[in-house]
Amino acid sequence: ICSISPEWLGTPIKELRRMPQCGQSLPHLRATDNHKVLIRTDLLKDGQVPHPYPSKYRDSWDDMTVKMPCSEKNLFPVENEDGSVVQSRWELIRTALEGECKSSLDIRDAILSYNTVHAKRWDFTALNYLCTEVRSTFFPSGKITKIETACFLLCKIEMAKENLLSAPIPPRPIPLLKTRMNQSLTMSQEQIACLLANAFFCTFPRRNSRKSEYANYPEINFYRYCLLFSGVALETRYIFCRSMPTGLVTFTRQSLSGFPKWESSKKQLTRLHITCKGTIEDEGYGMLQVDFANRLVGGGVTGMGLVQEEIRFIVNPELMVSRLFTEALDHNECLIITGTEQYSKYSGYAESFRWKANHKDEIPIDGWQRRCTEIVAVDALKYRNFMEQFQPEKMIRELNKAYCGFMRPAVNPENLSAVATGNWGCGAFGGDTRLKALLQLMAASEAGRDVAYFTFGDEELMRDVNAMYRFLKDKCVTVGTLYFYLKQYSNVVSKHFQRPNISLYGYIYDKVNTNMDPEPSPSDSNLT
Ligand code: AR6
Repeated sequence: ICSISPEWLGTPIKELRRMPQCGQSLPHLRATDNHKVLIRTDLLKDGQVPHPYPSKYRDSWDDMTVKMPCSEKNLFPVENEDGSVVQSRWELIRTALEGECKSSLDIRDAILSYNTVHAKRWDFTALNYLCTEVRSTFFPSGKITKIETACFLLCKIEMAKENLLSAPIPPRPIPLLKTRMNQSLTMSQEQIACLLANAFFCTFPRRNSRKSEYANYPEINFYRYCLLFSGVALETRYIFCRSMPTGLVTFTRQSLSGFPKWESSKKQLTRLHITCKGTIEDEGYGMLQVDFANRLVGGGVTGMGLVQEEIRFIVNPELMVSRLFTEALDHNECLIITGTEQYSKYSGYAESFRWKANHKDEIPIDGWQRRCTEIVAVDALKYRNFMEQFQPEKMIRELNKAYCGFMRPAVNPENLSAVATGNWGCGAFGGDTRLKALLQLMAASEAGRDVAYFTFGDEELMRDVNAMYRFLKDKCVTVGTLYFYLKQYSNVVSKHFQRPNISLYGYIYDKVNTNMDPEPSPSDSNLT
């Protein structure tokens, strides 16, 4: 008998809401106390590079804003005949980069000239390799000489320098998005290009050591040239070529102070589309796309990491600038990024990841000149011991984190898109897909959003989660009741250090079937 196994189950994906169709019309873009805007909103014109605001650079050097490379306070000690004096580091940077780059060694020397303290340990092997040996990456057909390849790359680097030296650095201080702040920041893709070019040339002061005042921030300078994956970052062609994009990008840190009482929630589960084909970024266009994040957003993107979050940061490189100003996320926080553009297509995953081709991003633009791509960075907990995640406080933490990512206090749920997610926290972070699928469904239901779940090729997971979802819907099990069963399961398995004999789903089927009361009282002690 020939049976075709389904590629998806549940609600057809075309019935789920996407932006821009589902959204409410945006008010005129303007700066407020909790929304800093780095461009002239009155001059915003479709298809034109936005004008920076204010028109003249305003310096600042304090704890609330990003310390900029071009600040007059950014000083560098130099030796002269009269002894040691300080010099403007920005002058040094400009002089070092103004010269022609004939080989990767020139780039290395330039970078080292204004980064003397830590740079002794930096290793430029990969940069060198990229400048000389990577023709297979850039020109898979192989019809190009080494010298041409080097020229090609150096030409891109020239363009990056151009971005750094002549593109307008954001003229007003960039606020740090610190813990407990509910704050948005909107800037242009051009300004981001300039900031990323600075990151590439390692110009951001105080950012070369995790022991500095930025210890609780991700790395931003791309100084890990020794690692080939920075080479991948190098491929983020955006900072190196193309005509300047004209859009805006908004970064919002959302820090919630109140959370649902999960055990007493009466919410019904919202709709689910589940599929073993496709990815969050492709099939989830227009939805809220989950970034399986690290608390330091971007995770290992400037280092060795190359899983879901790092790949997303590489193909949508404007995400990378969030590392400049986003302090480590706390349990009740997330970072929402709207408007980034996808520049690259890729294939594979982790070790098999390959840059494939340029990508032309056709996502529609919203009223604030942003691409309708909303990505939310939410960091799951990392589990070393599999059983740990069933502890009630851990489940609550993950529910609250997902809820923070999905919930939009100021928006009517009818105007919210579905959530496009998948095995959040279940790869590098060792979580259980079946538990995490339920927790994410519960959080989305509380936030009033449907879910498109991508199992990333796992057919069995697709069937299991869908069957459990159907069963819970048929029995009208609410979010609160489901939480109650999860807690009961936790109690039963708490004595185990390894995986228990009874599976989570087996237990839920059993309990719901034997306990016909859809609202069990929390004092129910019939646990086994
Ligand atoms: N679409 C849908 N599902 C995907 C996709 C995709 N594009 N890519 C991967 N998956 P992981 P984590 C599935 O390990 O466990 C990073 O370093 C796939 O099944 O990236 O939350 C961060 O910076 C994969 O196994 O997420 C953090 O430090 C699963 O999603 C850390 O990893 C989990 O992907 C987070 O680890």
